[in-house]
Amino acid sequence: MDNPEQRIKIAVQKSGRLTDHSLDMLARCGLKFTQSKDQLFCYGENMPIDLLLVRDDDIPGLVSEDVCDLGIVGRNIVEEKRLALLAAGKEASFDRVFELDFGHCRLAIAAPEETAYAGPASLQGARIATSYVAIVSDYLARHSIDAEIVYFSGAVEIAPKLGKAEFICDLVSTGSTLAANHLREVDTVLESEAIIIQTRAPLGSAKQGLVDRILQRLDGVLQVRESKYIMLHAPRAALEEIARLLPGSESPTVIPLEGKGDKVAVHAVCRETVFWETLENLKAAGASSLLVLPVEKMLA
Ligand code: PRP
Ligand code: ZN
Repeated sequence: MDNPEQRIKIAVQKSGRLTDHSLDMLARCGLKFTQSKDQLFCYGENMPIDLLLVRDDDIPGLVSEDVCDLGIVGRNIVEEKRLALLAAGKEASFDRVFELDFGHCRLAIAAPEETAYAGPASLQGARIATSYVAIVSDYLARHSIDAEIVYFSGAVEIAPKLGKAEFICDLVSTGSTLAANHLREVDTVLESEAIIIQTRAPLGSAKQGLVDRILQRLDGVLQVRESKYIMLHAPRAALEEIARLLPGSESPTVIPLEGKGDKVAVHAVCRETVFWETLENLKAAGASSLLVLPVEKMLA
């Protein structure tokens, strides 16, 4: 698989809120990379999977144009690209594969603290500064609101102070940027998080096989985060109640205990957080010798 044509390319944000987490998830998938001198390219050492480190705004385009096979990017950026293409009469040539459950934030409408707001109707006739022209246009159209969109490529939060707009629509994560600019969040336009997208271009069986493998590993990484392996002893008569108490587990393994009469050992993978309360309830139901272990890898 040394033919460069047969290598997978994944687009990842070069520096920003998603970078560290994206690289960490790929490392958990067992991928190892050597970074180029200019730090824009990571060569996959142990699998034919390379990374392209780029501006997040460029990721949907790179995947759509088949320069990269996969991309990890915020839903806000993906949605903006999809709607912008749609407005131009074109269709995005990528598909959302799944959510990666990090980089949670929202695209919100905000205004100076003293501005009154009573729902989208308050935007009628106003000027809204944003970098998300397509998403805001779509939002206004859906609410039948007529407002002027003022494009800002960055530093949107200073628009009201400059007298360029009454409202802004920008990404909010901790809210500290808004607070620092005396702006108040008044409405949510889109909930966002990191997602993985795949090109619609046919990849050929070898490359698609590799893409499927990496997607399956990413899914496994997501699954194990909350998962725990529980081991306990219990009287056989309490099994039904104990199975009911085990959070998010499929049929547990039941093993007879040598010389212990009606006592059994129960082993189960729980896909939800195991709280102290859960353990206390299990104990009250007759369980003893409870042990909760972290799960490192999982393959469905
Ligand atoms: C966003 C947004 C704000 C900031 C909000 O920019 O434009 O400046 O983050 O985050 P906070 O609520 O935690 O203060 P981002 O860092 O995503 O940069 P980019 O839009 O240039 O990619
Ligand atoms: Zn950006």
